[in-house]
Amino acid sequence: MGYNARFKVWRGDNTDGDLEDFTVEVNEGEVVLDVIHRLQATQTPDLAVRWNCKAGKCGSCSAEINGRPRLLCMTRMSAFAEDEVVSVTPLRAFPVVKDLVTDVSFNYEKARQVPAFAPPPELALGEYRMDQLDVERSQEFRKCIECFLCQDTCHVVRDHEENKESFAGPRFFIRLAELDMHPLDVRDRTREAQETHGLGMCNITKCCTEVCPEHIKITDNAIIPMKERVVDTRYDPLVWLGNKIPRRSGAAASRSLHSGDVTTAEAQARGRLRQKPTDTTALTTLQQALHGQGRFADAAGASRSRVEHAGRVRTARQGALAAHAWELLCAVESGQLDLDGVEDEIATTLQQAQRLTSTGTVLAGTHALHHLVHGRLAEAAEHAREAIVWDRDRATRADDLVTLSEGLAGLGESEEAASALAESQSLWPDNPRLAGVRSNLDDMNVHGRPTPAASVDEG
Ligand code: SF4
Ligand code: SF4
Ligand code: FES
Repeated sequence: MGYNARFKVWRGDNTDGDLEDFTVEVNEGEVVLDVIHRLQATQTPDLAVRWNCKAGKCGSCSAEINGRPRLLCMTRMSAFAEDEVVSVTPLRAFPVVKDLVTDVSFNYEKARQVPAFAPPPELALGEYRMDQLDVERSQEFRKCIECFLCQDTCHVVRDHEENKESFAGPRFFIRLAELDMHPLDVRDRTREAQETHGLGMCNITKCCTEVCPEHIKITDNAIIPMKERVVDTRYDPLVWLGNKIPRRSGAAASRSLHSGDVTTAEAQARGRLRQKPTDTTALTTLQQALHGQGRFADAAGASRSRVEHAGRVRTARQGALAAHAWELLCAVESGQLDLDGVEDEIATTLQQAQRLTSTGTVLAGTHALHHLVHGRLAEAAEHAREAIVWDRDRATRADDLVTLSEGLAGLGESEEAASALAESQSLWPDNPRLAGVRSNLDDMNVHGRPTPAASVDEG
């Protein structure tokens, strides 16, 4: 049901202005921006308001409603009582252009003062790689729609024009935190945040977090971690050096791995882990470097530590558990570990990983290999086929084709097994599993007996 609401809307420009009273119709389901548009259409055609998407995504319609920084398009009229007077005013921290439109160029100035992502100079375009864990860590900050409500509410600049020169504001603290967390960024962002962008002026009142329409935990996840690092680095230069050097060696290890130099990657990751044994990115690199050398039992040791330090973030934990189950299975398949000795660990790890996965198909390839090492060849082939349907990257597909090939060969379907193996080799010729598997298959084709891994279970 519609009703007439009373509004006070600020009208004016940078030199003068005042609140003007309006009575305006409101219909069910409307947001404040709808009412402002009705005012424009029916009473004040020259009322200035900035908006674009009316979906909370462009960040244009920021204003203050009853004194609180909010998006006009995301504030429902049902949030106010019908007899309540709703005031709509421009963002207070920025100069007014006209009516509800403010000049937010302060924020663009500040954006320009944050140097762009700075990868190591020796890395060519196209060689940038980062671990999923690192992607997820800064994902939250990338949701920012640049509405600048956090900038508007921050008391450091809201009523203190004089602070603007030396204070970048919460929106840019999350940008700095995002860059600081990037494993390939070589600038000292924490020091810059403190010395150039006024991080020290923030007294973590969390007002910025409260108004963020994207629910970014600006204070807890960006500002406080950076402040903690400032304490570490500013007051103890040795700690700063200690933190920076291994971090770079961690990034170098990751680069070596992606360039295919697995032995250098192993050495660099071990160097990083000597400094910080809990660094999950270095543990992942070490695990992958060892896997790349066909040292699956050692890789399982690294993945075990990865699980221990994975924390409670669901995707990171699931990734670590899945990787650990996979390394254990590869080690059993290649004869580097005895199935009896690790079967309980495999089963528990797989169970825990499965509980954290979003779909039943994520671990299909791992389940296939699990069946294979138990000699359950038909189940192995079935799960491998299921996995291949969903495989999105070449290496995973290549691995699942190897499993399929082994399963089929054990079932006597040697032609299809050979074709799966050939496809796998073409996708990933250096797959370390291939060396062991080829000889197993050769033996099987010549002698018509099951794979050694299968015989482990039967014995
Ligand atoms: S927590 Fe810091 S940046 Fe956020 S509003 Fe408060 S003083 Fe400003
Ligand atoms: S951090 Fe939140 S409040 Fe600040 S500009 Fe980005 S989306 Fe807006
Ligand atoms: S109009 Fe785009 S966020 Fe409101």
